[in-house]
Amino acid sequence: MAILINSSQTLFTLQTAHTMYQMKVDEAGVLLHTYYGKKTAVWDYSYRIICEDRGFSGNPYDKGNDRTYSLDALPQEYPSFGSGDYRTSALKVVFPDGSTSCELRFAGVKVRQGKYRIPGLPALYWEEETGAETLEVYMRDTTGQVLVTLIYGVLEELDLITRTAVVENTGKAPICLERVMSTCVDYPGKDWELQTFYGRHVKERTPQRMGLRHGIQSVGSTRGTSSHQQNPFYILCEKTAEEEHGACYGFSLLYSGDFLGEVELDQYDQTRAVLGIHPGNFRYRLEPGGSFSAPEAAMAYAPGGLGNLSQIYHRAYRKHLCRGKYKTARRPVMLNSWEGVYFDFTGEKLLSMAKEAASMGIELFVLDDGWFGKRDTDTSGLGDWTVNEEKLGCTLSELSQRIHRLGMKFGIWFEPEGVSEDSDLYRSHPDWALRIPGKTPVRSRYQLVLDFSRQDVRDYIFGRLCSILDHARIEYVKWDFNRSLCDIYSAVLPPEKQGEVAHRYILGLYEVLERLTDRYPDLLLEGCSGGGGRFDAGMLYYAPQSWCSDDTDAIERLTIQYGTSFGYPISAVGSHVSKCPNEQTGRNTPLETRATVAMAGTFGYELDVNQMTGEEKQAVRRQIEEYRSYYPLIQEGLYFRLTDPEYNDGYHAWEFAAEDKSEALLCVVALKIHPNGPSVLMKVKGLEENGIYLVNHREYPGGVLMEGGIPLPRAKVEYESFRFHIKKIR
Ligand code: GLA
Repeated sequence: MAILINSSQTLFTLQTAHTMYQMKVDEAGVLLHTYYGKKTAVWDYSYRIICEDRGFSGNPYDKGNDRTYSLDALPQEYPSFGSGDYRTSALKVVFPDGSTSCELRFAGVKVRQGKYRIPGLPALYWEEETGAETLEVYMRDTTGQVLVTLIYGVLEELDLITRTAVVENTGKAPICLERVMSTCVDYPGKDWELQTFYGRHVKERTPQRMGLRHGIQSVGSTRGTSSHQQNPFYILCEKTAEEEHGACYGFSLLYSGDFLGEVELDQYDQTRAVLGIHPGNFRYRLEPGGSFSAPEAAMAYAPGGLGNLSQIYHRAYRKHLCRGKYKTARRPVMLNSWEGVYFDFTGEKLLSMAKEAASMGIELFVLDDGWFGKRDTDTSGLGDWTVNEEKLGCTLSELSQRIHRLGMKFGIWFEPEGVSEDSDLYRSHPDWALRIPGKTPVRSRYQLVLDFSRQDVRDYIFGRLCSILDHARIEYVKWDFNRSLCDIYSAVLPPEKQGEVAHRYILGLYEVLERLTDRYPDLLLEGCSGGGGRFDAGMLYYAPQSWCSDDTDAIERLTIQYGTSFGYPISAVGSHVSKCPNEQTGRNTPLETRATVAMAGTFGYELDVNQMTGEEKQAVRRQIEEYRSYYPLIQEGLYFRLTDPEYNDGYHAWEFAAEDKSEALLCVVALKIHPNGPSVLMKVKGLEENGIYLVNHREYPGGVLMEGGIPLPRAKVEYESFRFHIKKIR
């Protein structure tokens, strides 16, 4: 039993393999949060809550003259705005009379077998009969107009607790939701650090860690996407937490639009963590009888450090979030045309690249931007999903057939949500773009955004995608999105519903993705948004991989992929070997190093293979063979971050270790050459203490490699890399 409820139905304890989460209904019917952390004996943790008379912290009317009871000081499961708790809240409702005070009181509880799903939104799933339970806690507001159902998923073996909230209008007039957070957790004490992942285009998910200060510290996006700038994943950890020790809590949102994550340190040195849809572009009108579902948040507690926390997310997202054929099937090694030829290609040019690629063992040829409409630059054509046969010199089906004849799979790029003003689509349907009547829209990359909150727009685009996918053999689609939203206004909604457009847009996106994966179950879908601008757990429900960054420089990628690994599995990280000098940085790195870095991801190439020397082509052949042999280890092995690239100027290292400890792969990139420098011993992890392993033709006990380390060779050229296969022989 993962969910335990006491006989008076007031104490709810959720247990996973190693963690425990608890809440309690008090005499006033308030749902208090009492514990989240290591699994212990089931105990009523409310003993830790000490009520005192607190100045300027109000008392609910139903507590009479008890000045020691204040919501402003109590830890709660789902605090609401206007209840006398002045900290950041989980819920804000505007009632029909314009008031905003909402007091929630307990109205019942139910336990269900299995893990809930959320219609229209991504959610972790659990397919076995046992091992997952759902708790529903009903909270009614004191005026009887709102019913909130707090839903918890307990995934025992995964050590994850998921949450969502459903808000229903049970009154007689419309209400407006201005804030519906997916989760809120209150902690006693202030000794936490917050780790977030910030960035920008071509530099996503850089880890940043800071001590808490009094007040609210937040991350978020109002760009309509989860964004390059902040990621909807953060970690709250003990100050001493490192990769292998210290308690850490992860908060991850399965949502690809605007989000807000806040951590507030309050006046009594208590810490509140919330995560959900950003209220900035959110005003949701609920008619009587209507309901709203918040996206899912996935929470994990790891007692054993950041590495432990990441591994929890890696496993859960790989096995219980990603879906489709390529969740398990080996993904083909690809050649993407973008950095090789950009818009400048003909069918013949593409075929000659494909031919060369096939001879090197590359298995999938991806035709990126530029194959449709009038699209020789990024100024036009977006939205016109008709094959430019003149440019290709043949039909797409013929091109695909010729590529298949080489023994390769074929894939193409789409940007279904984008539209160029210079396109037939925009000329015939200007109202299909998000824009405000009477105002000129903000453009970005010369383009506008289609109103995916509209069913007719979605149906049209889906129809266009199908007509392409049905008329050529296509095994892969890159779903790109190259700008942030602005002018968020839908031509078909009344003024009072405009505050719903940003969220409806994401629901629309998810609907099309669901239809696509449903209709083409064998399609490999890769998410992308100008690189990693929509690299989030929501997208992983539809696309098992996402292009990680438009920065393909191997050294820059070290930090980007390092940061990404905190919350997302390696199997999701789109990573390619590109040419040198690198397009973004002008840097030269050895081909072998570019491969080492791309192997910490989906692995592919993105350059003009016809420009490579015979020696380079030979090296690519070897790399592909090697990658294939490591594939299960890289995809399913435990991932260990061994160094932090920002604070280490010698070597950066990471490792994949099989869960059964039968083998491991240590990858090292030399960041700087120090002549006459110190010797470096790299300690590896995840081996069997007494097992005997072979490394570089020498035998070592696992314990020795883990304690004594592997001596690293001195780099002879800048950015040289090393890959050590560590194989258990007995
Ligand atoms: C975005 C993507 C690139 C490429 C271009 C094409 O920037 O991230 O990989 O597909 O668009 O325009």
